[in-house]
Amino acid sequence: MVTKEFDVAIIGATGAVGAEFVDLFAKRQFPIKNLRLLASPRSVGKQIEFQEEIITVAEADINSVKGADIVFFSAGAERSRRLAPGAVEQGSLVIDNSSAFRMDPTVPLVVPEVNLDTLTPGTRLISVPNCTAIILVVAVNPLRSLGAIDRLIVSAYQSASGGGAAVMDYLESDTRAFLDGSTRPTKPGLPPYAFNLFSHNTPVGENGYNEEEQKVIEESRKILGMPSLKVNVTCVRVPVLRAHTETVTVEFAGPAPSVEAVRACLAAAPGVRVVDDREANHFPTPAEASGQGDVLVGRIRQDLSNPNAISMLIAGDQLLKGAALNAVQIAEAYLAKFPDGK
Ligand SMILES: NC(=O)c1ccc[n+]([C@@H]2O[C@H](COP(=O)([O-])OP(=O)(O)OC[C@H]3O[C@@H](n4cnc5c(N)ncnc54)[C@H](OP(=O)(O)O)[C@@H]3O)[C@@H](O)[C@H]2O)c1
Repeated sequence: MVTKEFDVAIIGATGAVGAEFVDLFAKRQFPIKNLRLLASPRSVGKQIEFQEEIITVAEADINSVKGADIVFFSAGAERSRRLAPGAVEQGSLVIDNSSAFRMDPTVPLVVPEVNLDTLTPGTRLISVPNCTAIILVVAVNPLRSLGAIDRLIVSAYQSASGGGAAVMDYLESDTRAFLDGSTRPTKPGLPPYAFNLFSHNTPVGENGYNEEEQKVIEESRKILGMPSLKVNVTCVRVPVLRAHTETVTVEFAGPAPSVEAVRACLAAAPGVRVVDDREANHFPTPAEASGQGDVLVGRIRQDLSNPNAISMLIAGDQLLKGAALNAVQIAEAYLAKFPDGK
């Protein structure tokens, strides 16, 4: 049991994920004695309420986290690369939401339902995986108890909030302008967004996969501890404000388990809620996944084109389980294992 209270900092407190951290700390009664809310110079002086206290946002720099027991980084990879090693040196436990250290073999990449065993007493820097990868592995990992998995084929329907507060604003303002018939806004690097969808807006590499897809492939392998798992993924942004949806085909090394066995396995799995009512046509949606921590799984069926495979539809709130909630769960698990925070 955690009895100590901690000095906690959030770098990126004014962002889409940052706001979820503040909310979760209050809802989950995270053991906080002092909360530092940090962001860019643009946000200095902004006021944010936490447990009936008004906290003024300060600029994130290395001095602003001096003495903090735990620092949650949620302000992009560049900020993490610049400040996280120094924060660790100053004695903080760092939990990083960015991609900066995820593929560093010395840094645990953690989804608590899957690989908490990678946290050791010496761990001071922990990476939170890519949101699409987190939602995927929460639903796929339990199925390994039913047979060896050989390959995953995934299509991800990703919401605007995955791109942060600015992309959410763009979807909202473009939709309003489309419906009003007024001049539509533009955003560099993004196609028109209202009533449209587009291939994920990260650069495409020489192999034809974009950066988001490459992250899902590499990070899923690392989290699952399956370096040679075959993964094929396509990431598309859809005009949904919040929560990612994914179609997943799981190919087993041998004949696929029955639909009933998969459903029972997932119903008992931590962090999963089965939403699979064929009669009512009630299956996972981003709307139902929004604002709650479970990954919803449904449309569980045999792949008619492959006796070794099953297909399913999953949805998860990527600001919560795909980011802030996963990070807070890591911290809670760490403190349960190492109660004095060390
Ligand atoms: N959105 C998701 O679903 C999701 C999922 C998983 C991981 N992540 C990761 O989480 C991080 C935050 O994402 P987000 O969606 O919350 O983005 P966001 O809404 O754009 O927020 C970005 C945050 O970073 C801060 N920031 C930007 N430049 C800064 C600087 N120079 N110094 C200090 N702070 C700075 C911003 O402060 P200002 O408000 O002052 O600009 C803001 O608080 C990113 O690393 C992202 O990759 C996001």
